Amino acid sequence: MFTIQKVSALEILDSRGRPTVKATCVFQDGTTASASVPSGASTGAAEAIELRDGDPKRYQGLGCRKAVANINRDINAALAGRTVKAQEEVDAVTRELDGTANKSRLGANAHLAVSLAFARACAQARRVPLYQHFADMMGQPLRTLPRPTINLFSGGKHAGELCPLQDVLVVPVSATTIDQSLADTFAVYQSAAKLIAKKYHMRPLSADEGGLAPIFPDPEAMFADAVEAIEQAGLRPGHDVALAVDVASSHFHTANGYQLGDRLLDSPTMIEELARWAKNYPLVSLEDGLSEEDWDHWPKLRETLSGQTRVVGDDLLCTNPERIRKAVELGAADTLLLKVNQIGSLSEAKDACLLARRAGWQVTISARSGETEDDWLADLAVGWAGDQIKVGSITQSERLSKYNRLLEIETATRLPLVTWPTPAPL
Ligand code: PGA
Ligand code: ZN
Repeated sequence: MFTIQKVSALEILDSRGRPTVKATCVFQDGTTASASVPSGASTGAAEAIELRDGDPKRYQGLGCRKAVANINRDINAALAGRTVKAQEEVDAVTRELDGTANKSRLGANAHLAVSLAFARACAQARRVPLYQHFADMMGQPLRTLPRPTINLFSGGKHAGELCPLQDVLVVPVSATTIDQSLADTFAVYQSAAKLIAKKYHMRPLSADEGGLAPIFPDPEAMFADAVEAIEQAGLRPGHDVALAVDVASSHFHTANGYQLGDRLLDSPTMIEELARWAKNYPLVSLEDGLSEEDWDHWPKLRETLSGQTRVVGDDLLCTNPERIRKAVELGAADTLLLKVNQIGSLSEAKDACLLARRAGWQVTISARSGETEDDWLADLAVGWAGDQIKVGSITQSERLSKYNRLLEIETATRLPLVTWPTPAPL
């Protein structure tokens, strides 16, 4: 039992310099813990609503003072003095107080900040590490560490839309530890930076998540250059280091089809294109290959890539149990990209995770493109036994705080890295 004395919040800045919310939860016994929420740029249409102030004179309307005030006033009034047993109770109180399906009244940023701060306070009060508390919340023992999927090249909304594909990521598949995964990735990142300087005559400018972002002549060049960088690092493409891609295709999908560079493709042709990439490059995971509303074609995409490349739903699913249920019924994907701020509370994200697991799917626990230095995501990925973790590149402190936390957890627990190859998709 935990008796909440007070919840409060303040506006802080994220890795893009935009406002976000940091909440603090204080228990009657003096336990005090804080947590900060991230924010996306290539957001799914079905995400819970981040409350922004809309005042054009301040942070171009992106201020979070209203969300902060909602925590300090309404949410604090509803929670202060309450004794609760579990996370679900706190999340239910804020959900009922909000009264909207998409959390637009109080703001998903307000909800999640409180949800996370409460979880961290519980871990502290129980004197267990946060990852252990998350595992207990899920009712499962600690099993494995997630395999990192690390941003190498960026495009799309994270890099001025110079290239349509959002991320090409490296997956260190022969690594057996987090430590080795990061060392292998560093080698590839360094050789990629050199390659880019030579090929595109540019300094290694990096995008929102720290990926390298030259002007690639076409989407396929991102894969070809990534393979070359792996080879130049002395590693074997597909054997030591494989590739993943976040196509984020909702963001170049129009009423007329997929605007892939200078080509306009209908859905069946887009699937053929994706299948060709999967055949020609060591692509083990493909996220949002089709748009978030192209439900009719997702099952075909999954069938086409089955046994070869994981079909990951991000914008398609929005960590939303209803959308996941629909995708399971249709056979539209085989991997959930889980971002807790898409749904706005730990309890609902847990339901989303369990639905995916029960369907035999894998789960990738993911950061957002706008992050903070808070490292709870690493604990969540371990506690909820994520198959993969997606944080961005191995540059920039808001990304490294998560990788460094994984290193700490690895040292403290000696848990094994999740095995590779992971079981084939259904
Ligand atoms: P976002 O991007 O945080 O800007 O939505 C991350 C992703 O699409 O996976
Ligand atoms: Zn995505």
